Amino acid sequence: MKILVTGGTGYIGRVLCPYLKEKGYDVIALDRNFLSDESVKEEYNSLGIKLIRDDIRYFDPHILEGVDAVADLAALSNDPAGDLDSFKTWDINYIGRCRVARLAKKAGVKKYIVTSSCSVYGFQNEVVDEKSPVNPLTTYAKANVAIEADNLILGDKNFTVTALRLATAFGYSKRMRLDIAINAMTFNAATKKKIMLMREGTQIRPFVHVKDISRSIETVFESEEGLVNGQRFNIGSDEQNVSLKDLGEMVRKTVNNGSEVEWYGDPDVRSYRVSFKKAIEEIKFRTKYDIEYGIKEINDMINSGKLIQTPQTKTVEFYKLLLDAESKFREYSLPGFERIL
Ligand SMILES: NC(=O)c1ccc[n+]([C@@H]2O[C@H](COP(=O)([O-])OP(=O)(O)OC[C@H]3O[C@@H](n4cnc5c(N)ncnc54)[C@H](O)[C@@H]3O)[C@@H](O)[C@H]2O)c1
Repeated sequence: MKILVTGGTGYIGRVLCPYLKEKGYDVIALDRNFLSDESVKEEYNSLGIKLIRDDIRYFDPHILEGVDAVADLAALSNDPAGDLDSFKTWDINYIGRCRVARLAKKAGVKKYIVTSSCSVYGFQNEVVDEKSPVNPLTTYAKANVAIEADNLILGDKNFTVTALRLATAFGYSKRMRLDIAINAMTFNAATKKKIMLMREGTQIRPFVHVKDISRSIETVFESEEGLVNGQRFNIGSDEQNVSLKDLGEMVRKTVNNGSEVEWYGDPDVRSYRVSFKKAIEEIKFRTKYDIEYGIKEINDMINSGKLIQTPQTKTVEFYKLLLDAESKFREYSLPGFERIL
């Protein structure tokens, strides 16, 4: 099976593409490469993964010829990045991914997955599942609600479409994100002996390891069409709905270097808890990697010098740099640089 992964050099993409390749799939990664360093070219080349540096809004549709399945990951990938410039968020996360799905269908691609997020549920008191009403609170979450709906309707007997609502990811990737809770807490504990916790720490969030996200995408591509076509699945596990306070304690124990908790922010008591039963019951998908595994993995990478903080590891700050550069280029009317992002 030939799989095209948009956003294939992002945090999830850099785990997913090598994983799929190792499993015997033919893999093409399509990405603007905003956030990965140049070493990705060498790595993908040596693994036999074709890397196309292009934009989901403008790429040549011929790229889709002979492709059997698309995992559509490209996006401005969290709430604060989505709020930097809401026009660009809609342009990439919604219009861009509408384009990918429609071109894929036209090109005869058989299977298509769009990655959405559990953030579509917003904050709710009940445990939420795929049938619960959504409550998107940010541009990023609203664009996810819209793209799920408008791409799922494309599903038919020749084109299988599935939306995956991912919990917040954790774990090591060669394009590392230190802007997501578990990764950030582990990094601060390992390098500063501080665990930064937002008050009161009772907020509950769902989490999933980036390797399990990769496994879930493979599971959907290998599932019978009738089980996944037109469906939304939450991806994570019931046991990994965890409060920030409990996460801090897991980080403290696993890093085990005398780190201390430092509280910040006004008390935030908003929680949401997600049910992941549908994926277990309908496509037999269960997570394998727990939070302690992820903390240990990141801590080991830091201690071996393989994981350092760079401007790209804080997604929103890096996109802000790109936007600032874009406005400078506009100000000085430099040709060819009107649009960076
Ligand atoms: N990481 C998480 O916790 C998480 C949770 C829920 C959902 N998701 C979703 O999973 C997907 C991947 O997230 P990630 O964590 O890997 O984020 P990421 O920011 O690391 O990766 C996104 C990739 O998309 C690329 N990209 C952005 N705009 C593009 C465009 N116009 N054309 C081509 N490429 C473009 C970027 O260069 C980047 O490599 C996103 O859709 C995100 O919303 C992620």
